[in-house]
This record gives sequence, C-alpha cells and structure tokens, in this order.
Amino acid sequence: MDFVCPSLSVNEQGNLSLGGADVPALARRYGTPVYLVDEDAVRKACRDYVDTMQEAYRGEYLICYASKALSFKTIYDLMRSERMGADVVSGGELYTALAGGMPADRIYFHGNNKQDEELRYALKSGVRRFVVDNREELYHLDAMAAEMGSTAEISFRIKPGVDAHTHEFIQTGKIDSKFGLALETGEAFDVIAEAAALPNIAVKGVHCHIGSQIFDAEPFQVTVRIMMELIKRVHVELGLLIVELNLGGGFGIRYIPSHDPRSVPDIVRATAQAVTQAAEALALPLPYLVLEPGRSIVGPAGITVYTVGSVKAIPGVRTYVSVDGGMTDNPRYALYGAAYEAVLPERPLAERTECVTIAGRCCESGDLVARDIDLPACEAGDLLAILATGAYNYSMASNYNRVPRPPVVLVSGETSRLAVRRETYEDLISCDL
Ligand code: LLP
Repeated sequence: MDFVCPSLSVNEQGNLSLGGADVPALARRYGTPVYLVDEDAVRKACRDYVDTMQEAYRGEYLICYASKALSFKTIYDLMRSERMGADVVSGGELYTALAGGMPADRIYFHGNNKQDEELRYALKSGVRRFVVDNREELYHLDAMAAEMGSTAEISFRIKPGVDAHTHEFIQTGKIDSKFGLALETGEAFDVIAEAAALPNIAVKGVHCHIGSQIFDAEPFQVTVRIMMELIKRVHVELGLLIVELNLGGGFGIRYIPSHDPRSVPDIVRATAQAVTQAAEALALPLPYLVLEPGRSIVGPAGITVYTVGSVKAIPGVRTYVSVDGGMTDNPRYALYGAAYEAVLPERPLAERTECVTIAGRCCESGDLVARDIDLPACEAGDLLAILATGAYNYSMASNYNRVPRPPVVLVSGETSRLAVRRETYEDLISCDL
C-alpha cells in the first residue's frame, strides 16, 4: 500500500505502523486525539537538505527549519543535532527555540511587524540575522542597536515578482503582498541604499519566499536569477557586496495520492546549480545560501489519530463521521479547504466502500477535517488517522470551545516519547484571572 507518508506501512498484526510502531498501540497508550511524528523521518528530511547542499553547492550554506510548521522545545534540539538552523517569526518562537537549545547564531528572525520588545529580545539574544521587512523596522532596529551599543546584521525581505502560490507559478510586474519590499517599484533598492548608510546596521543578505506547496524547481531557478541580479546591481551601484542569499521555503509535499512533488534532493540540486551559474555569469562570489523549509521537513512525518464518536448518514446528502478533534487541532480544511487522506489504523487495507466527510466536535458547521473522501465503513469506537499532518497542525491549533490541545508524540523505531503533553482543563484556565 502506497501511503502519502513514507513512514507508514502495515505490520504483521495488519495494523497501521508509523516508523516501526503500532499505531493502535500508541493510541491506547497516549489517548486520542494525538499527533504522532516519526522522528527518524524528520531527521531523514533534514539530511536530504543538508547532504544535498553539501554535495551540490561549493559555497557555504545553512538550512533553517521554519519553526512555524511545528514548534516545541524538543524539535530544536533535533534540528540542531542535524546541523540545521531555525527561522522564527515571533518572540514566542524565538523563546522556544532558545529554550530548546538552538544556538542564537543559527537563528533568522522574520516577521512583517516585529514588535520593539521582540527586536530588543532578539538583539540581546544575538540572533544571526534580522530579516527586515520594511523601512520602519529598519530605522527602529538601527536606533535600538545604537541604544544597546551593538550592530544588527540584517537581510532584507524582497518581493521578487515571482508568485508560486499554486502549482503553477507566475511572474508578475507587481505582487499584492503584505511581506517585504517591492523590487519593480525601486523600493527594495532604495531601502538597501538607505540601510548601507546607517551606523548600527550591517547589510548581509537578501531574502525572499515565493510561496507554498511548490512542486517544481523552476520557480526557484527563476527567483535565483532575479535575486542575484539585485545583488549585482547593489554591488555595482552602491559598492556594497551582499554576501547572503536566502530563498525561503515552500517545497511541496504529498497530502493526497495525486500530489507529485519533485524530490527535495532534486529541487535543492537544481536551485544550488542556478545559484552557481548566476554567480559565474554575473561575476559574483558564491553567496552564503540559506533555505528555510518547514512543511517538507515535518509534514509527511506526522499523522493525527482520532477516535470516531458517531457516524451520521444523511440519505442522498452526505455521511458525517465525527471524531474527537477537528478544527481545533487541524484548521487547514476550514482555512484553506485543504485535502487530506484518511486511514483506519486497525483496518488500513480494508476496501474503501464509503464516501464520508470527517467532522470535528466544535459548535461550528465548518468544523470539518476532510470532505467527501473514500473510507472503509466505520463505526463509533474505531480509530481514524489523518495523514501528513506534521506541519501547520499542532502549530496552528487553538482552544476554540475550550478544547484542550492534543499531545505530540515522537516515535523512533518501536519507541515513543511525549514531546508535548496533552493540555488539561487546568491549563485552559491558567491565564484566567
Ligand atoms: N520562510 C518564510 C519566510 C515563510 O514565510 C515560510 C512560510 C517558510 C519559510 C516555510 O515554508 P514551507 O517550507 O513550510 O512551505 N499555514 C499555511 C502555510 C503558511 C506558510 C507561511 N510561510 C498552511 O498550513 O499551509
């Protein structure tokens, strides 16, 4: 059986297995709903990036894990041990990364509206890079660094005019986005020029992030040329050598069988080659190359296991299978109409005879996890797993309806351990006065 998550198989008992661990046994041990993450698969994904860069790129590089995909203390220790850095986008992610043992000099600090308090905290912590989004932030940061007697090393978030938010990508004259500085209006160049003159700012890099769920290398290759041309122009016209190129994340994964992304090594190799070629063509030194994958590191490694509570067949309309979680642990259908594959962990190979909609437990009709998907007949008490939930599920979970967030369990081979415990009712009122 070809599941969308490479970690999944069917074991001798005929049960779903994640890594080497029996999923029904994990559900009994930790309860449901539960997020299960195959740690070995996460490590392999990191190595796919790091090893490919090592082999395909002659310059220096850093792969920064995009924390927003899945953030808790242990994940940073794992990333550090796999030679990764981290991208953080808030004081909270920075705090978690530092608490989890990620060295500050491997942390990139993002955000389109960083708060003064966060900038100060990041300066004090000695993060490697501030990815500056706008002019106001630049001047705030310069003033704050002056106050603290330090220099902020920055990169600029640029809108390169490549939009790859679908499987197709478009090059447009102008992108409507709240992030970064526009290239085509001259804004990016002007702000870089201003920054070059600021006493407490050191311009090190340019950054861009062209979209999510990108299945091919071409959008990255096109982006590389645009960004390298910007680096060239800054060098020629301002005499400033930008030494770092950060291409963000966006590498796609398989959520459903019809998704067919090119492999990570393929895309990384093609991107590294594009950088090398552009550097040669433009007579620039190889930049320090940074990638920021999130989804492709943790997404396919995770599944969510629920217990079915009821099956409601509405003749001629739809069959609702209600589970003990929903939009509180996975808001992606509600937000994006995201597609997922489901499996019954105790009968993973049973014939999929029914068309069902998986509903959550919130007081909200839009609280669905997957709509009109094929599944074997199931009933109350059955386990149900949603696949490829490692990214943007736990990190986007909420306590709507005061539903406690599920635990995150790291699985390695046959062993497992809690990385995040289940929230309690006491946790839910812990900030209430
Ligand atoms: N770097 C930057 C600056 C980003 O904005 C993002 C994602 C990444 C890296 C990581 O991208 P990835 O490799 O994970 O695609 N909540 C949405 C995804 C939002 C991603 C926003 N930025 C979802 O659930 O699909």
